[in-house]
Amino acid sequence: MRILSGIQPSGSLHIGNYFGMMKPMIAYQEENELYCFIVNYHAMTSVIDGEQLASGTMEAALDFLALGLDPDRAIFWVQSDVPEVTELTWILNNVTPVGLLLRSHSYKDKIAQGISPNHGLLSYPVLMAADILLYRSEKVPVGQDQQQHLEIARDIAIKFNHLFGETFVIPEAEINPNIPTVLGLDGRKMSKSYDNTIEIFAEEEILRGKIGAIVTDSTPVADPKDPDKCNLYAIASLFLTEGEKAELADRYRRGGLRYSDVKKELFNLIWDFFGEARDRRERLQRNPSQIRDILKAGAEKARAKALPTLEMVRKKVGLAY
Ligand code: ADP
Ligand code: TRP
Repeated sequence: MRILSGIQPSGSLHIGNYFGMMKPMIAYQEENELYCFIVNYHAMTSVIDGEQLASGTMEAALDFLALGLDPDRAIFWVQSDVPEVTELTWILNNVTPVGLLLRSHSYKDKIAQGISPNHGLLSYPVLMAADILLYRSEKVPVGQDQQQHLEIARDIAIKFNHLFGETFVIPEAEINPNIPTVLGLDGRKMSKSYDNTIEIFAEEEILRGKIGAIVTDSTPVADPKDPDKCNLYAIASLFLTEGEKAELADRYRRGGLRYSDVKKELFNLIWDFFGEARDRRERLQRNPSQIRDILKAGAEKARAKALPTLEMVRKKVGLAY
C-alpha cells in the first residue's frame, strides 16, 4: 500500500501532531511504501518570514527523524525540493471549481479569525491534492481536521479522470478512530493557531509550565471527579496503558485527588515518553548537513516516482506536443 502524508513546518510540532499524524506514519514504514514530507509550500500561506520557514523546515525534519522515521525505509523529503508539484497544482486549478474551495472549513475558519485571505490560502487544497495525486497515494493518514481536504482531493481526481480519462488513483483518508482529536491546554483541539499546545520537544521548564497551565475545574479535592469531563485526564490518557487509565479514572471517582499531583505525574510521563527521541534529536542536531543530505536524497527518490505521472498528465492535457 502506498501511504503519503505531510506536515507543515509552521511552528514547533506538538503532541496533537504526534498522535494524530507522526506516530501512525512512522508505524507504517514497517510494512508499506511510505511517503512522508514537510510541506513548506503550504506553510507559506501562514509564515511570511524566510528565515523562520527555513529553520522550521529543518526543525520538523529533525523531529521526524528523532521520533524514528527511517529514511532508508520511507521516502522523506521537503515538498519544494520536487517543485514539479506546483506544475500539477496549476493543471489541477483548471478543473477545480472555486465554489468547492470557498466551502473549505479551514479557509472559512481563517476568514472568521479576521485573516485577509490571499489566493494561496484559497488554493491550499489544490496544492494538497497535487501532493497526493502526483505520488499516486492510496492512503493518507491525517487528523480529523484534514478530512475535508481529502474529500476535495478526491473530487478533483475524479473530475480529472472523468474529463481526461483514467489518470489518478483515488486516495482515501485514514483517521485514527482511537485518537480523532488531541485536546489542548484549554480543552479545545490542540493547535498552533489556538496557542494551547504541548510541544513534543519542549525544554524541561517550559514543559512543566505548559502542564501546569492545563485547565481543570474547581471541584474540591475531597469530592469525586468525573475523568471523562477532565481535559487533564484526556491528555494523560494518551501516555497510559488501558490498565493505568482505569486506575487513574478510579482515583478520580474515589475523591481526594489533587489535580496538581496528576500534573506532576503527567510531566514525568511525557518527559520519559519522549526521552529516547530527545537524545537522538540532540545528536542529529549537531550535524545539519547530514539532515540536508537525507532530505536531498529523499527528494531524488520522490521525483523519480512523480515524473512518470506528471508526464502522463502533461500528455493528456495537451502540454506535450
Ligand atoms: P495545527 O492545527 O497545530 O496547525 P497542523 O494543521 O499543521 O496542526 O496538523 C498537522 C497534522 O497533525 C495533520 O495531519 C493534523 O490532522 C494533525 N493534527 C494536528 N492537530 C491535531 C490534534 N489536536 N489532534 C489530532 N491530530 C492533529
Ligand atoms: N494540509 C495538511 C495539514 O495541515 C498538510 C498537507 C499538505 C498534507 N499536503 C498534504 C497532508 C498531503 C497529507 C497529504 O496538516
